[in-house]
Amino acid sequence: MASYKNIVVLTGAGISAESGVSTFRDSGGLWEKHRIEDVATPDAFRRDPERVQNFYNLRRAQLSAVEPHAAHFALGRLEKELEGRVTVVTQNVDNLHERGGSTNIIHMHGELAKVRCQTCHQVFEWLEDCTQETSCPACGQSPALRPHIVWFGEMPFEMDRIESLLYECDLFVSVGTSGNVYPAAGFVAAVRSHGMAHTIEVNLEPSEGVSYFAETRHGKAGELLPELVEELLTLRKK
Ligand code: OAD
Repeated sequence: MASYKNIVVLTGAGISAESGVSTFRDSGGLWEKHRIEDVATPDAFRRDPERVQNFYNLRRAQLSAVEPHAAHFALGRLEKELEGRVTVVTQNVDNLHERGGSTNIIHMHGELAKVRCQTCHQVFEWLEDCTQETSCPACGQSPALRPHIVWFGEMPFEMDRIESLLYECDLFVSVGTSGNVYPAAGFVAAVRSHGMAHTIEVNLEPSEGVSYFAETRHGKAGELLPELVEELLTLRKK
């Protein structure tokens, strides 16, 4: 390992699992209890908006019942100590990275704690329930608000910025993601294709993309990530 100048950390549901947030594809995960096509597509929202709003209302309400843990705090510490050199690109829609001290975060699949107006396109911080009767605080329309979530079939947010970061990074770490959902599942191959960056997978078990990583660490994020951050910070001091 060398001392790194640009670090990208991709995170998925596994990093929030130890906080008590359900993952999607593990046994008992969200996609075992709900069909994607019922709650997480633009079509589902057109067909049955109340059902989709309710699915996200329940998940939004869960935010206040969970706390960040050692892995989120470790990333917060890494960013603070390596100022300007760390970006968290997360597929997670919870706010546990923010609460763990990270500030340089890209929520590529959106955020539970926000809604947006389909009429005037403004985005609002939102911790309450949202229904088809709720009026847009800016333009007053209803129904108009939808969860600020990227559904299947929609384009993830900030892809241009993410592509530049992947191109420029010299360390790419993937934490708690099964490697099933593109484009995030393709990030490690994109990083490898332009050469020099080191790549590390931190996951409970080998992901779908495990063979693309130069280094793998398998176990709980809450145990492995603080260790990795400690190693990275020690390198900087050498
Ligand atoms: P998944 O549920 O597909 O995968 C979670 C991964 O985390 C699995 O590989 C687990 O082995 C691992 N894991 C579980 N507990 C862990 C722990 N304590 N420490 C480390 N790893 C652990 O979740 P994602 O890969 O995030 O998209 O799913 C990607 C996207 O699919 C989500 O953003 C969501 C979903 O459909 C949308 O809703 C658009």
